Amino acid sequence: MLIRVLRRFLRPYRRDVALVVALQLVQTLAALSLPTLNADIIDDGVVRGDTGYIMRTGAVMLGITAVQVTCAILAVYVGARTAMTAGRDLRSAVFDRVQRFSLAEMGRFGAPSLITRSTNDVQQVQMVTLLTFTIMVMAPIMMVGGVVMALHQDVGLSALLLVVVPLLAVVMGLAIWRMGPLFRKMQKRLDRINLVLREQIAGVRVVRSFNRQPTERERFEGASTELFRTALGVGRLMALVFPAVMLIMNASSAAVIWFGAGRIDDGAMPVGSLVAFLNYLMQILMSVLMAVMMFMMVPRAQVSAERLGEVLATDPEIVAPAEPVRLATVGAAARAGTGGAAAAGPPGGPAVGDGVRAGNGVRAGNGFRGGDGFRGGDVPGAAGELRGADGALGRHLAVELDGATFGYAGAQAPVLRDVTLRLEPGRTTAVIGSTGAGKTTLVNLIPRLIDVTAGAVRMGGVDVREVDPRELREHVALVPQKAYLFSGTVASTLRHGRPAATDAELWEALEVAQARDFVEALPGGLDAPVEQGGTNFSGGQRQRLAIARALVRRADIYLFDDAFSALDYATDARLRAVLPRATRGAAVLVVAQRVASIRDADTIVVLDAGQVVGSGTHQELMDANATYQEIVLSQLSAEEAA
Ligand SMILES: Nc1ncnc2c1ncn2[C@@H]1O[C@H](COP(=O)(O)OP(=O)(O)OP(=O)(O)O)[C@@H](O)[C@H]1O
Ligand SMILES: [Mg+2]
Repeated sequence: MLIRVLRRFLRPYRRDVALVVALQLVQTLAALSLPTLNADIIDDGVVRGDTGYIMRTGAVMLGITAVQVTCAILAVYVGARTAMTAGRDLRSAVFDRVQRFSLAEMGRFGAPSLITRSTNDVQQVQMVTLLTFTIMVMAPIMMVGGVVMALHQDVGLSALLLVVVPLLAVVMGLAIWRMGPLFRKMQKRLDRINLVLREQIAGVRVVRSFNRQPTERERFEGASTELFRTALGVGRLMALVFPAVMLIMNASSAAVIWFGAGRIDDGAMPVGSLVAFLNYLMQILMSVLMAVMMFMMVPRAQVSAERLGEVLATDPEIVAPAEPVRLATVGAAARAGTGGAAAAGPPGGPAVGDGVRAGNGVRAGNGFRGGDGFRGGDVPGAAGELRGADGALGRHLAVELDGATFGYAGAQAPVLRDVTLRLEPGRTTAVIGSTGAGKTTLVNLIPRLIDVTAGAVRMGGVDVREVDPRELREHVALVPQKAYLFSGTVASTLRHGRPAATDAELWEALEVAQARDFVEALPGGLDAPVEQGGTNFSGGQRQRLAIARALVRRADIYLFDDAFSALDYATDARLRAVLPRATRGAAVLVVAQRVASIRDADTIVVLDAGQVVGSGTHQELMDANATYQEIVLSQLSAEEAA
């Protein structure tokens, strides 16, 4: 896996890799030539008293050393650059992949693990790549070269290598074998720490209010101690390995001198050769050590690479089809003949059916959605023209759920069963049902955050699975049940809806969302800071900002998933009064628990345990639908009691 990951991410930098290998080759060969020259100086210079020879050979040695140093520096420089660049690419690849994950894949890995994977795991792989370039490439050259040179110096002494090298390899091999599983454990423990920490930081209020600090501290300490134990295990092994290696190295030097001295006495070997041989022995053992150290890092990187490979190999369930159908084109055909019904006033022109705010200037006429110039530009050809001509009522995409069934992976029973309903352009459809009835699940089907397991969802007559999700979502503005705001300013938050929106348009949306007053009161107004998740706003404020963000989008389809739940009745009512104008022409789906929020909807769909048990207007359902009556009565009595 590691190899596969490295191959893929180093491929663009083949030339740099080749350069590193070449530099290391030169560097190592230079290092290997030095002891022989040293031996020559001793045997031919020192022993014979030839100072000129000593100077000349010394100069050559200096030159070679200069080359070696230069190559070493360059090799590390290029190697580090390549390793870090490849690491960056790997991180981006993981990030891109995770961005495309649907809710199902997100759930499978879990956020903490995805975070460890894109940070620590990438780092492990990066580290090993760096070490490969700086050490691993050098080790085999040095080992083979060292053996050749040692043989060249003295064949008899080289027999020692047959004992020492395997001994060292075995000792190190044992250590590695023990370490592999420990490293695997270590990454898992790291995941766990991440999970505990994340949960505790995100849920700090709950932890405090339920006085759970001691328990949570224990939980964290537990996770932390486990990591500590594993790391300690690794540390102990390392502590054992290094003295063992030193012992082997020093013992073998002693042996070389012992046997070498005998051979020199016998006149079978010059003194210089002994010195050179000692040097080569050290170089060989160093190379074994380096290789083995490397192999110590590899298991951990291997584990990390596997974890990264898992992410990279997971194809999101929800992908763009090979030949996506353009929604706009289809929409244009479908809406032929319906255009022209709109009287789109020019911005600032006379108010059209806008009694409440006529003369306001900002809102006069259809200024809010008038013209639609930005949209016309997006959509090529006929669709663009049609949209332009349609003006304010240009949103003509209907959404259709046709026998939609959905079950979460691993769950036995489907959450939604055979749900059929239609969202008409210009009309408000409401979905009401008790908690857990599947309302959020239903909403998620429309922008294709999840896919039906049976049946179909169609937008503008096209199965959403045939459309590029990116295009699909352009047409949808969703206010999720749990309003999540990104850190930034109020303006940047709202512009998530549409980056090109002007300040005036943002104020429009805030006005409709009943958020204008409190945003105006903020220091900085539109530039007031929003913290991650929007935690510096109250639940209701957050919800209204999320509504405004959706309104800024100017979509064909608006989905409000329980978006009014945190608003008081009066605010809720005011919002509902102006909402139809802001979303005019678009299909609107309102999910709610409160009957008051939806009683004016054109159609109300009653959802019970994932099934549609009735639909119609408030009055129709009141007359004929038992489930709806129950819901209404339960809420009426609650209100009356209050
Ligand atoms: N990610 C998930 N994995 C497994 N089951 C889930 C998941 N999300 C929701 N469910 C289950 O699906 C059912 C419907 O959930 P859903 O969120 O659609 O309900 P809801 O009608 O929106 O409820 P509420 O009014 O409380 O928001 C619930 O029984 C829930 O347990
Ligand atoms: Mg819900």
